[in-house]
Amino acid sequence: MARLKQTYPTDGFFGIGIYNNKEQVNIGTLWRSAYIMGASFIFTVGDRYKKQTQDVVNAWQKIPLYNYHDIDDLIAHLPYDTRLVGVELDKKSVMIGEYQHPHRCVYLLGNEQSGLPRETIDKCHNLIQLPGDYSLNVAVAGSIVLYDRLAKS
Ligand SMILES: C[S@@+](CC[C@H](N)C(=O)[O-])C[C@H]1O[C@@H](n2cnc3c(N)ncnc32)[C@H](O)[C@@H]1O
Repeated sequence: MARLKQTYPTDGFFGIGIYNNKEQVNIGTLWRSAYIMGASFIFTVGDRYKKQTQDVVNAWQKIPLYNYHDIDDLIAHLPYDTRLVGVELDKKSVMIGEYQHPHRCVYLLGNEQSGLPRETIDKCHNLIQLPGDYSLNVAVAGSIVLYDRLAKS
């Protein structure tokens, strides 16, 4: 009997989330972008998400949201051979234009008020930043990262 030869896409998977998110609207907006741009899941670290109404595509029905207690909980539950990519304006960050996205990775953003803490930044495998001297809104920053990945794939 002939064996079915299956091929699978080699571009991996990715998730995206916010550390200690304070404004629920940002999770809703990021969830929608994540679903549309092909993420497998989104997540929060620390503060939990409370459902709100901005999610017009019902992204919550399409890709799951996970909650991790803290950064160590996130790291302990990273999928096998998957990079943790911090997204932050930082002197150690690589400009996104020069960045080659890993096949499997999880993008971590900071919250609107305080960004990613130093000890969390130091636990990321890679750090990337977007152009500009001022911070973008976190959901906007996350959406641009996802677009960059998509554009380079
Ligand atoms: C509004 S910013 C945080 C601003 C915070 N007050 C601070 O000074 O760190 C929220 C998050 O969006 C992301 N972000 C915004 N602009 C960025 C940029 N130019 N490059 C990389 N990440 C950015 C980062 O994850 C950041 O933690």
